[in-house]
Amino acid sequence: MSRPDFHIYSVQEACVLFAQHFNLAATAIRLPGERDLNFHMTCEDGTQFIFKIYAPGTDQDWLAAQDQVLDHIARIGGFPVPQLLLSKADSSTTAITDDDGNRRLLRTLNWIDGTVWAKARESHDLDFAQIGTLLGRLDDCMKEFDHPAAHRDFLWDIAQTSKHREFSDLIGDDNVRAYVTDILDRFDHGIAEKLAKTPRQVIHNDANDYNLLVDGNLTINGLIDFGDFIETHRICNLAVALAYAMMDQPDPLACAVDIITAYHRVNPLGEDEVAILYDLIACRLAQSACMAAQQYAKEPDNDYLLISQAGVNDLLARMAKLNPAIAHYRFRDACGWEPCPGSRKVVNWLTVNADQIGPVIPQSMDASNLHIVDLNGLSLDPDGKLRPANIVTDAIFAAMDAANAEVGVGKYLENRKVYQGPFFETATRGEWRSLHLGIDLFVPDQTPLFAPLDGVVVVSNDNARDFDYGPIIILEHKTPCGLTFYTKYGHLSRTSLPVSPVGKTVRKGELVGYVGPYPENGNWAPHLHFQIMVDLVGMGADICGVAAASEANVWSSICPNPNLMLGMAIDCQDIVERAPAKITAERSRHLGPNLSISYKKPLKMVRGAGQYLYTDTGEKYLDMVNNVCHIGHSHPRVVAAAAKQAAELNTNTRYLHDNIVNYANELVATFPDPLSVCFFVNSGSEANDLALRLAQAYSGRREMLIVDHAYHGNLTSLIDLSPYKFNRKGGKGCPDHVKICPMPDGFRGPIRSDDPECGRKYADLAIDQLRAFEAEGRPPAAFIAESVLGCGGQIFLPDGYLKHIYAAVRASGGLCIADEVQVGFGRVGSHMWGFELQDVVPDIVTLGKPIGNGHPLGAVITTREVANAFYNGMEYFNTFGGNPVSCAIGREVLHVIRDERLQANARIVGDHMMARLREIAAGNPLIGEVRGAGLFIGIELVHSLETKEPATEKAGQIANMMKDRNILISTDGPMDNVIKIKPPITFDLDDANTFLGNFEECLALVTP
Ligand SMILES: Cc1ncc(COP(=O)(O)O)c(C=O)c1O
Repeated sequence: MSRPDFHIYSVQEACVLFAQHFNLAATAIRLPGERDLNFHMTCEDGTQFIFKIYAPGTDQDWLAAQDQVLDHIARIGGFPVPQLLLSKADSSTTAITDDDGNRRLLRTLNWIDGTVWAKARESHDLDFAQIGTLLGRLDDCMKEFDHPAAHRDFLWDIAQTSKHREFSDLIGDDNVRAYVTDILDRFDHGIAEKLAKTPRQVIHNDANDYNLLVDGNLTINGLIDFGDFIETHRICNLAVALAYAMMDQPDPLACAVDIITAYHRVNPLGEDEVAILYDLIACRLAQSACMAAQQYAKEPDNDYLLISQAGVNDLLARMAKLNPAIAHYRFRDACGWEPCPGSRKVVNWLTVNADQIGPVIPQSMDASNLHIVDLNGLSLDPDGKLRPANIVTDAIFAAMDAANAEVGVGKYLENRKVYQGPFFETATRGEWRSLHLGIDLFVPDQTPLFAPLDGVVVVSNDNARDFDYGPIIILEHKTPCGLTFYTKYGHLSRTSLPVSPVGKTVRKGELVGYVGPYPENGNWAPHLHFQIMVDLVGMGADICGVAAASEANVWSSICPNPNLMLGMAIDCQDIVERAPAKITAERSRHLGPNLSISYKKPLKMVRGAGQYLYTDTGEKYLDMVNNVCHIGHSHPRVVAAAAKQAAELNTNTRYLHDNIVNYANELVATFPDPLSVCFFVNSGSEANDLALRLAQAYSGRREMLIVDHAYHGNLTSLIDLSPYKFNRKGGKGCPDHVKICPMPDGFRGPIRSDDPECGRKYADLAIDQLRAFEAEGRPPAAFIAESVLGCGGQIFLPDGYLKHIYAAVRASGGLCIADEVQVGFGRVGSHMWGFELQDVVPDIVTLGKPIGNGHPLGAVITTREVANAFYNGMEYFNTFGGNPVSCAIGREVLHVIRDERLQANARIVGDHMMARLREIAAGNPLIGEVRGAGLFIGIELVHSLETKEPATEKAGQIANMMKDRNILISTDGPMDNVIKIKPPITFDLDDANTFLGNFEECLALVTP
């Protein structure tokens, strides 16, 4: 570093100054800096600061403007940005005169203890999405901010890229100079104009990899240095961050996509911004190269200026090889938009005009003449190596013969293992281009091929590389409404090329070429690779026929399903499988953000059997969370019943069918009289909503009595009845027509379970609410309660509780609803229904979750009297409720519970669990209470049996530790300190012992 021409304060002098102006005794360490002096100060009490002594000539107004930015951000709150320490004189900036008579400014910010992103990246896999989330939120917060000083000419403003042209000649490296010149040209010929039309605001403008800090968990805990802030185009902030984040990444675009996805999620971008983003990233790199060249020319000894220049040059070189159109489409995909603009319109035109499209091959495309080729299976030897073309050809044509089909079909979006040469390797570590973008038609070589529509030959080429296409022809088609798209014919014979020279106009039905033999067709079994392209993305004859699976969205948008033109009435499109991280990203693009995912490292489940779940990597998990797949995941009898009925008939209830009455009979038979009438619906929520309508119709009232912390469903009407939702984040509090009865929690509530009158006393508290309604002259329509309180923390109702409340509610003219969505169908072991534990008969019972073993089904069971009151002339129509398939499934679930004696199993295994858990609890004060019946069990964790302080964190830790041991459990309750156990009721004694052993060990690990 060159020596500045002003006083350099020593660390001792810095300490003296710091003490003088901030009244703090501290030790100092000097940090690097271009001109300003930066000291890391540590005070006696351990607090740390960064103390800055600015170079002479620093603009105090500019520092004041930065202070205002920090102030604004601090006011909004929640951002990991430095905060100012005011001096003794209550000012953020203090002026002093140094020994040389220079005016120097002092400023102190709190120290953020982190590692710079650039360094952390060298040894860790970082979550790049964090950068996007931070910047998106920051830009959103800065929308409200402005300052005259931010409106300035600044060479680091991407909007001022043109001004760098005067420095580009100073770039020493010929290649870098060429890239930079090209970028500047593009900026001046279009990008600048487009940028000018995008939104403006004040931005940080320097979220580079040295200004971002991460903590020990690799979470961003600091964005520092607001010295480059400026009022310019919002998108430039993201472009700057991307330029630095993409450096040294194996797939720079993938990392950019992660950041853009996250940014867009919190601060939606515009299509016009995203269209120029890739160019703006390049502009930032070009600016960096120009600035470094200019400054290096002035100070050839100043190595500090060259920091990160190698990374800039490397990324410039790599970006020069990337396809900007693909980058743009990947960025659009990151925002959840149609990746290739216009694709949907082409698909629609082809769909609407299907009858205008002619055949491509002479063979019949009737389904009976087609055979799906198992290409991976027939092409690879036992070691996974591609077999010779003659052997593959014989195998494929033999399979077609055996199926009596003249045409073999290779599927669209099939993930193939046959593309093994270096030609198919992508820039991404370990990823190959394997996803098939066309449809293959295996027919004998020399089969003539015809144009399905009028077109013009735009490519006629022999792609002679090994395993490439061999001869290839691409036609351009224009629709009457002005759309353009292309069709590709690959793996042809060489004789095809003179048939279709570039520029030739081809009419629909006219000869295009011939299927080629191996090896001239690239050395494949004879077939036509037929592909539709909406855009050739500048690739011409090299337009991909297979793509990396990670780019499936982009390439399937560029290349829609060719069956739009081939018209084969068979399933010729494969399912794209994605790695867990990709699924997470995909969910964030196309699903509502309030869907949550379990676990920090989410699990991708691909199979379930019994009480076990299996991940994509084949790991087996014991499922103790799932009370939906009640009789075991994918129970074969349920699957068979569903398949059988689905293959026969599925209609609505307006036709007569045996299933609905058989099921209703059998279901009602499990209930005590007078519960005898069923309504079939599609979910627990729908069941509860219908229960409300029944109660309202019966009573002519609207008011409802509910129990605290309850959850009754996701419909508007039920959020109103769910304190678990309306009293927590995002909720609007208790609505006027609802009164809340306290949870009858005999462990933690005001009345304890050792009180012999516990049930009655809690009932009295509920009846107080009933009386309050009555006093207001609006008695309630109904009282609704879960038969065991699930979200409340597995709370079992004390004896007599429901009996007293039911009597009072009925006397007041209201109805009693039991929500059995969680606990019904034998789970509690001793009884089929949870309300039976209370020795009551509700007026309405609602069923869900376990009823269909995973199939969306629900039911309401009520009395004839209530059902009749609802019958007021308005039809109750439910499109899917009670359909023959759902009824077949529901009925089979009942049969399996009976035939496999699963209710008894729930009782036996539940008793075993409870006995052992109580023994464990007796020796461990962390367990406040164990409560349960059958396979519905709660373990409440507390720090102290006296205070009952909830051990929420410990409960979470145990759940995570158990996950690491392949056992899935969840936590719940108002304080989230109750371990919740509700496995499929096939859960057996071995499973119970596996759980108990591991639980005991995990408990010991978190016990102080
Ligand atoms: C007690 C209770 N009632 C109703 C529901 C709503 O059921 P669904 O999610 O099927 O709509 C739930 C769901 O968790 C529930 O636990």
